[in-house]
Amino acid sequence: MPVEFDGEYWAEHYGGRAAHGGRQPTVHLVTEVGDLAPGRALDAGCGEGADAVWLAARGWRVTAVDISATALGRGREHAERLGAEVVDRIDWVRADLTTWTPPGDAFDLVCSHYVHSTAPTGTLVRRLAASVAPNGTLLVVGHHPSDPHHHGQPPRAAQAQVTAEEMAAGLGPGWDVLVAGTRTRPAGGGPHGPTSRDAVLRARRRP
Ligand SMILES: C[S@@+](CC[C@H](N)C(=O)[O-])C[C@H]1O[C@@H](n2cnc3c(N)ncnc32)[C@H](O)[C@@H]1O
Repeated sequence: MPVEFDGEYWAEHYGGRAAHGGRQPTVHLVTEVGDLAPGRALDAGCGEGADAVWLAARGWRVTAVDISATALGRGREHAERLGAEVVDRIDWVRADLTTWTPPGDAFDLVCSHYVHSTAPTGTLVRRLAASVAPNGTLLVVGHHPSDPHHHGQPPRAAQAQVTAEEMAAGLGPGWDVLVAGTRTRPAGGGPHGPTSRDAVLRARRRP
């Protein structure tokens, strides 16, 4: 029976434990965004906040959104451990990305990692893209269907899979696609350990 990736699913996912445990930012964020000048960022589906905290520590002013109050609480605690500057640069927002519209100006960076929400991929990408300022960057990452960690798993894993082409199809006109492809990353276990395969879309909104 396919599982709905709704609020109830994520509440159970985070219940009682640090689900993604790491204090490390996503490897694709570091690669794709590391050389951008800090500005305003939206981390959509921020989970326990490793990416939001990494961005804030580099001077970005971050709006970090997630449907899970537990995950947001852990993100806040993580930020507090790094001090007042990081705390002050992050707004933690509990909201459902399928309906939430950010107030105020658009963002210089909108990033979203592994958010397999209930909305179709194209719909979610379109919503995220609408929040990017002219010249701003959109970075969306998901689990690619060829990811070996999903082979032989139940239908809910298949629901979470996506290709960069599917994500790019959610963009309207007025975008330069800088990266749309499959990337590998270490999946724990050190340099000789297993790797995961991700779909990565990086695009820049034209002025
Ligand atoms: C697999 S986790 C990834 C978290 C984080 N981006 C990371 O890379 O570690 C997916 C996150 O998306 C959030 N999420 C899923 N659907 C959502 C929705 N409709 N609105 C807001 N957050 C959502 C979940 O609560 C969860 O924290």
